[in-house]
Amino acid sequence: MRDRLPVILVNLKLYEQSIGQKAFEIGKAAESVWKESGVLIGIAPNALDAATLAEKLEIPIFVQHVDSTPFGAFTGHISPLQLKKYGIAGSLVNHSEKRLKLSDISWINQKLVEEGLISIICASTPKETLSVALLQPTSVAIEPPELIGTGIPVSKARPETVTETLDLVRSFAPDVKVLCGAGISTGEDVEKAIELGTDGVLLASAVAKHPNPRKKLMELANGALKASDACSKR
Ligand code: G3P
Repeated sequence: MRDRLPVILVNLKLYEQSIGQKAFEIGKAAESVWKESGVLIGIAPNALDAATLAEKLEIPIFVQHVDSTPFGAFTGHISPLQLKKYGIAGSLVNHSEKRLKLSDISWINQKLVEEGLISIICASTPKETLSVALLQPTSVAIEPPELIGTGIPVSKARPETVTETLDLVRSFAPDVKVLCGAGISTGEDVEKAIELGTDGVLLASAVAKHPNPRKKLMELANGALKASDACSKR
């Protein structure tokens, strides 16, 4: 289970509503929705929560960032080389709120892949997404920064950004999966993202800040199921 890319990946960021025990509760809800719906949901909690959640939950647990450092005298760093020991499935890389230099992205991606972990590299534009897709991560995630946290879904407000990314990645790095994110908030947003051709969505606030995360996750999973029905009927 831990080596599979989730269809819905929830980045818990550092919201007060999604750390510690609350992160665990969101993870439990994600696990129960996955078991009921069959739609794989992963979460990327704060690093302080990630190891405990990976021990307690069956869904894939990601970290939000790793540094480009091996083991050694590196104070305050998280290395891609330590994730496996804690049962972490993989990492987001180069998130809009934690940008990295291309040389660091490349090193981190290589280590994650060598470790058999899931590497999801984020980027802001179709062209940038192509340039990181050429590093052959497990997946890329296109996230226009100006839509992040707005509730305006990239899949509906900027479908052309998603399809342009898909065309570029499918042409030059066809084995790399594509997620889209920013503003994804409803089942319909997920449905639209998958109908456009993505492998899933990366989202945060709609779940992390929701008073009833299980209800929201079930709505999102149902959106994914609707899209796969529609795609299989084509
Ligand atoms: O990593 C996902 C994130 O940047 C999108 O955030 O709150 O728009 O779903 P949000």
